[in-house]
Amino acid sequence: MKILIVGSGGREHAIAWKIAQSPLAEKIYCAPGNAGIEEYAQCVDIGAMEFEKLADFAQEHSIDLTVIGMDDPLVGGIVDVFEERGLRVFGPRKNAAILEGSKAFSKELMKKYGIPTAAYETFEDSGKALEYLETARMPIVLKADGLALGKGVLICRTLQEARDGVKEIMEDKKFGSAGNKLVIEEFMTGREVSVLSFVDGKTIQIMTSAQDHKRAGDGDTGLNTGGMGTFSPSPFYTPQVDAFCRKYIYQPTVDAMAAEGREFKGIIFFGLMLTEEGPKVLEYNARFGDPETQVVLPRMKNDIVEVFEACIDGTLDQISLAFEDNAAVCVVLASEGYPVKYEKGFVIHGLENFKDKDGYYVFHAGTKRTEEGIVTNGGRVLGVTAKGSDLKAARANAYEAVKWIDFDNKYYRTDIGKAIDEA
Ligand code: AMP
Ligand code: GLY
Repeated sequence: MKILIVGSGGREHAIAWKIAQSPLAEKIYCAPGNAGIEEYAQCVDIGAMEFEKLADFAQEHSIDLTVIGMDDPLVGGIVDVFEERGLRVFGPRKNAAILEGSKAFSKELMKKYGIPTAAYETFEDSGKALEYLETARMPIVLKADGLALGKGVLICRTLQEARDGVKEIMEDKKFGSAGNKLVIEEFMTGREVSVLSFVDGKTIQIMTSAQDHKRAGDGDTGLNTGGMGTFSPSPFYTPQVDAFCRKYIYQPTVDAMAAEGREFKGIIFFGLMLTEEGPKVLEYNARFGDPETQVVLPRMKNDIVEVFEACIDGTLDQISLAFEDNAAVCVVLASEGYPVKYEKGFVIHGLENFKDKDGYYVFHAGTKRTEEGIVTNGGRVLGVTAKGSDLKAARANAYEAVKWIDFDNKYYRTDIGKAIDEA
C-alpha cells in the first residue's frame, strides 16, 4: 500500500515509525513532515490545510490510505474533501471532528447523554458571562469554544482573573474566532489521564493509558504547553477506573455521536480527570495526542495499518488490540523560552546515538534539515522516548537518553513521571 500521513510533529513521526513496521506499507509519504520523518517517509511540501492540493497529490500518486494526524485539518473538513474524491482516509468527517472543534458542542453532547463531566454554562455574550461570574465559585475554568493551539483554557483563581479572562477571550479575541463562544466550567481536582482509542463508527477499542505534563516548568509551574513529556501506562488508571469509563464514558460517547447523525471514525482521545466522585471528561480530542502517541505507539503490538483499515471498514470488532506489558516515558526537548519566545536554527548533535538501540526512540517535532545538518526549528524540538520493564526503569532510561542529545538552548523538564513515585 501507498500511505500518506498529514502533519509534521512528534506525533506524526511516531505514526510514521509505526506504519513503517507494517508489512502492508510499501511506500510512505508525509505532508509536510519534518527532518526525522524523512527516515521513514518521503516528505512532500504541501501544507496540512491545503486540502485540494493534498487530494490532488493522493490521486496522482495512487495513495491507498491517508492518515490525518492533526486537529486543524480534521476540524476543517479534510476527510470530507478526500471522501468526495473517492479517496480512502483515516479520521473523522467534519461533522464528527466537532467533538474536538467545539467545546460548546462537546459539553452539550455530554449533558444530553449523561456522560460525566464538569458542570458548565455556555455564553455568546460577554456581558452575560461577566454577570454569571459574580455569583460563581472560584477557582473557575474558562474555555474558548474553538481550537486555540491547546491554549484556549484559562484556570482562574480569583473573580478578577476570571473577569479579565472573559474580556481577553470574548472581547479582545485573544484566540480569534475560537472565542466567539465561551464555556465556563466548574474547576475539578484529581489526577489527569489521557486515554486514546480507535473508533469505527460503532465499536471502540481502548489503547493503553498515558499521562501528560502540560506545564512548561518543573513542579507543574509556568505556562501551559502542547505537552512537555508523558508516561504510559498511568498507575492511577486502575481496572476499576477502566471499567467505569467503558460503561459510562467511552461507548456512550460513540453511541451519542452516532445517535446525533455524526458517526465518528478515527481516534477519540479522552482527557479524563479522576475526581473523588469518579472519572469525568475534561475534554475530547479527535486525533492522537502529542506527546501521548510517543509513549503509546511504541508499546502497541498490532499492525497499525490493519487497525486503520478496520476503522474505515467498520470491522474494528474483529481486531484485538494488544500492548506490551512494560512502560514508556517520553521527555520533550524544547527550545529555552518555549512556549513564549525562543530562538531556532541551532545544530542538533547526537541523533545518531539512537540508531539500532532497541527500546529508545527520538521523535522529531520542530526540526529542519539544512546544509549544516539537522537544526532546531520550533518550540518543541524532539521527544526522547525510552521503554523499560516498569515505569521507574523507563524513566531512568529516558533521562539517560536525554543526555545523548545536545543543542544550544536545550530545555526539558527534569520531573517527568514524578507522579510514579506517588502511586
Ligand atoms: P484542555 O485543553 O481542555 O485539556 O485543558 C487544558 C488543561 O486545563 C487540562 O489538561 C487541565 O489540566 C486543565 N483543565 C481543563 N478543564 C478543567 C477543569 N474543569 N478543572 C480543572 N482543570 C481543568
Ligand atoms: N498532549 C495533549 C494533546 O495532544 O492535546
